[in-house]
Amino acid sequence: MMEPARRIQKLTSAIFSEMDDLGRELRANGVDTINLSVGSPDLPPAPHIKKALAAALDEPGIYRYALTEGHPDFKQAVADWYRARFGVDLDPTREILSLMGSQDGLAHLYLALVNPGDTVLVPDPGYPIYRAGALLAEGEIYPLPLLAANRFLPDLRAVPAEVARRARVMLLNYPNNPVAATADLAFFREVVEFAREYGIVVVHDLAYSELAYDGYRPPSFLQVPGAKEVGVELHSVSKSYNLAGCRLGFMVGNAAVLDALRVLKSNIDFGVFLAVQKAGIAALTGPQDAVREAAAIYQRRRDILVQGLREAGWEVPLPKASMFVWAPLPWGYQSSREFVAELARRTGVLMVPGVAFGPSGEGYVRIALVGAEERLAEAARRIREWALAFR
Ligand SMILES: Cc1ncc(COP(=O)(O)O)c(C=O)c1O
Repeated sequence: MMEPARRIQKLTSAIFSEMDDLGRELRANGVDTINLSVGSPDLPPAPHIKKALAAALDEPGIYRYALTEGHPDFKQAVADWYRARFGVDLDPTREILSLMGSQDGLAHLYLALVNPGDTVLVPDPGYPIYRAGALLAEGEIYPLPLLAANRFLPDLRAVPAEVARRARVMLLNYPNNPVAATADLAFFREVVEFAREYGIVVVHDLAYSELAYDGYRPPSFLQVPGAKEVGVELHSVSKSYNLAGCRLGFMVGNAAVLDALRVLKSNIDFGVFLAVQKAGIAALTGPQDAVREAAAIYQRRRDILVQGLREAGWEVPLPKASMFVWAPLPWGYQSSREFVAELARRTGVLMVPGVAFGPSGEGYVRIALVGAEERLAEAARRIREWALAFR
């Protein structure tokens, strides 16, 4: 019997597979489930992006291997977008690297920067690859708790100096998945100071920069002077342009960090399919109305869901950005796992228990703003009915 390597066993998340099993079991029993557990964009890409992808398929040379670092035209499009969106200047040859989705960069970056036993600072709760990538590189994880009392920002002064001195990398993500919190430039200035003091590489995942509400515009970590000396930022066209399956993202910032990842990746992949990079160029350089329209759609979903849950007596916060609501458990529940299982059985609505993202996520659930407005309203209606049992 083939035994997978020990590192594979470290990666499997029991809670996510439990959730999948529960959903399957309910559907097999004829329950009309409403799945608010996965954060996959469900809107179509803008027509001009699909046209660019289709047109590229007939171009000569398009099926050749691409360059690991990305086509120069794609990197120029990224540089132009960054300047227009954040006022940050990037050198396309040294400070931009294409990725097969930001997941590719997040999964592999530790292998390029971390030696076995090096400390990595990882948000808790956090998007799962931040931990999984560190485990693959045999890094020692030091969790940074994200707590409501601290507006879900890590308390950098609470990291003991001897831990900070050993730390090689720090992961950050604002707008955040799963806690849906945002960070301002004052916080990023603190981060740059801390990283400089201890020689830590900052990795900021900005996947949700364009999914923000009520006129809010999330900043780039690189807007802070000195940020490029200490860190990198990751982006995705998955969320901003509804291209999740195309697998295209990019990492920008510190040239030495990018080069280490480029060397690693040049041994693993041969870059992103050129037609997909062309679609990315169309997305980044073309009209941005679809980005604003998508944000408006998510904002309406947010309002319907939050209002519906509040009417059910569940006081959930209104997020400023991301595609999630991070909600404290209602009606006296203590265990997020127990709550989610009971919720699914009573209502057919599926959410992710906060503890699935790390121990500090206990006491919360993550609700994804996916699906049509009617389905979100229906989910809230079923929860309202169930809530009557607690009156
Ligand atoms: C915070 C965050 N980062 C990165 C990703 C990965 O996105 P992609 O690899 O599609 O760019 C996701 C996807 O859900 C995410 O939520």
